[in-house]
Amino acid sequence: MRLFVSEGAPGSLPVLAAAGRARGRATELLISTVGPEECVVPFLTRPKVPVLQLDSGNYLFSTTAICRYFFLLSGWEQDDLTNQWLEWEATELQPALSAALYYLIVQGKKGEDVLGLIRRALTHIDHSLSRQNCPFLAGETESLADIVLWGALYPLLQDPAYIPEELGALRSWFQTLTTQEPCQRAVETVLKQQGVLALRSYLQKQPQPSLPEERPVSNEPEEEELATLSEEEIAIAVTAWEKGLESLPPFRPQQNPVLPVAGERNVLITSALPYVNNVPHLGNIIGCVLSADVFARYSRLRQWNTLYLCGTDEYGTATETKAMEEGLTPQEICDKYHTIHADIYRWFNISFDIFGRTTTPQQTKITQDIFHRLMARGFVLQDSVEQLRCERCARFLADRFVEGVCPFCGYEEARGDQCDKCGKLINAIELKKPQCKVCRSCPVVKSSQHLFLDLPKLEKRLEEWLGKTLPGSDWTPNARFIIRSWLRDGLKPRCITRDLKWGTPVPLKGFEDKVFYVWFDATIGYLSITANYTDQWEQWWKNPEQVDLYQFMAKDNVPFHGLVFPCSALGAEDNYTLVKHLIATEYLNYEDGKFSKSRGVGVFGDMAQDTGIPADIWRFYLLYIRPEGQDSAFSWTDMLLKNNSELLNNLGNFINRWELVRG
Ligand code: MF3
Ligand code: ZN
Repeated sequence: MRLFVSEGAPGSLPVLAAAGRARGRATELLISTVGPEECVVPFLTRPKVPVLQLDSGNYLFSTTAICRYFFLLSGWEQDDLTNQWLEWEATELQPALSAALYYLIVQGKKGEDVLGLIRRALTHIDHSLSRQNCPFLAGETESLADIVLWGALYPLLQDPAYIPEELGALRSWFQTLTTQEPCQRAVETVLKQQGVLALRSYLQKQPQPSLPEERPVSNEPEEEELATLSEEEIAIAVTAWEKGLESLPPFRPQQNPVLPVAGERNVLITSALPYVNNVPHLGNIIGCVLSADVFARYSRLRQWNTLYLCGTDEYGTATETKAMEEGLTPQEICDKYHTIHADIYRWFNISFDIFGRTTTPQQTKITQDIFHRLMARGFVLQDSVEQLRCERCARFLADRFVEGVCPFCGYEEARGDQCDKCGKLINAIELKKPQCKVCRSCPVVKSSQHLFLDLPKLEKRLEEWLGKTLPGSDWTPNARFIIRSWLRDGLKPRCITRDLKWGTPVPLKGFEDKVFYVWFDATIGYLSITANYTDQWEQWWKNPEQVDLYQFMAKDNVPFHGLVFPCSALGAEDNYTLVKHLIATEYLNYEDGKFSKSRGVGVFGDMAQDTGIPADIWRFYLLYIRPEGQDSAFSWTDMLLKNNSELLNNLGNFINRWELVRG
């Protein structure tokens, strides 16, 4: 058995104090202190939660579960009182305590600002102790409950100022435990004589706790909220409550295929097509598929006629490179990873009606059709292009294989197509100090013939369309902002061809060796995926009057969905259904950094399954931290906390009580 703890992580305190119990009982208990870069369990990269690796090869990574395990080893038999304390600790104490510690240690608040958050919990412990008239929480001897609560409270209560005068029973309980040897040693290991300041860097990386609800200061009655419901609406709600499920209209039987119906609300939902060459991480999952899934479920519950589709985005250099790395053909890579993606989303219970892919004959047919129409209407230009070519690798460098300094903001690691810092689109040859990402040599500029979408010529139509679409729609503020800033800068012609093999062929003489740039035809993937589902696909995609198109994506996808594709579709003049509601998320970080497959940091779709945590809990927590107004971060400790307090305690109890009332 091996226990991994990290310095400065509060969860390590009770675990170390409890470890003494297992000494001599377990075959062998090794205790190691891990640094932030070490990876103990594949799915727990850089966490600050303690980990107990069992001899069976399994892992425990919740503080309470580890403490419980140690006590069970020492011959402890479960009792209700202890279990009740543990539940209280997880659901009531932890949320209050983590806020109090955050204010104290990160924000430097003091006195009542901190104590006010936790006073009720402290009083509860004190009263229980004095009522029972026992020195420990569950009786005459020290129990698991004492260790878990002591470990949680130590960082705060070690400062006597935070034990209110009148709570004498709490004070002597805390002192008794603190003077015990295992507890002393735990404190030394975790806090390293720095006192609670040792927890600072850990706490700084936790999401800021939400303040307990602020009560309005004025005495004005809060009528506004109630006023939004009419008498009639309240009566309907009461009847529905009393009748229960029977009051719902009968569930609409699923048609096959799902097609729009005249006179009904027809909702077409897409989530951005994930690149096929990687395993999606939690950020990809919440950014588009899970968000769209929740909306699709809502839409079906509303009895709207709903089609939710997605699929893998399979063309492009990234696929070619991955194929080289794995010694497979691009098609084999696509097949392999398409299945991996499909399995992951199935595990997360994403309710796609269709999960397709972009490497199909339909994709070629529809893309070439749109291209021909654009050509015929004079929206395609031809020009020679200066391109970066890496002589050492003997190939033209796709945007993502060049890195350099952003010409707009000076960011050092700008990609060849876009700067992650300022968000501006870049022409690779404009990058300062360009480097080939594969071999790090400096590429040379060579010229070659390419095709361009004449965006300046389409700009007016686009603005007209936006003017009609944006008001009253559900475009997120970040999407509106991104589109506005593009228009403000003025549109420029965009190159839509590439010197590559793995892509949709360009049907034009002289372009036999080139393919369409992925971003020209990726969004056409939605259409071709639908076309592979039903030959009636045009009922969805050439039916703007009857279809409401909702598109979900991360913010870096906004220009392509809100601007480039609409321009192609408007220019093709074939009555395409264009996005009505564009819903864009910000980014999700992992603990205190970015997800990175190559550096092995983060939780990726397949690992989520390996944790043994059910998909619904993942879904809950990811939706809880959904990066809506700003970037947010996934944190293991926070997931445990929110699961216990919000999902199980608040929502779980609410629904359980509701069931009891309803009988
Ligand atoms: N594969 C792209 C990404 O992951 C998204 C493409 S969405 C599409 O950023 F609609 F253009 F396909
Ligand atoms: Zn190179």
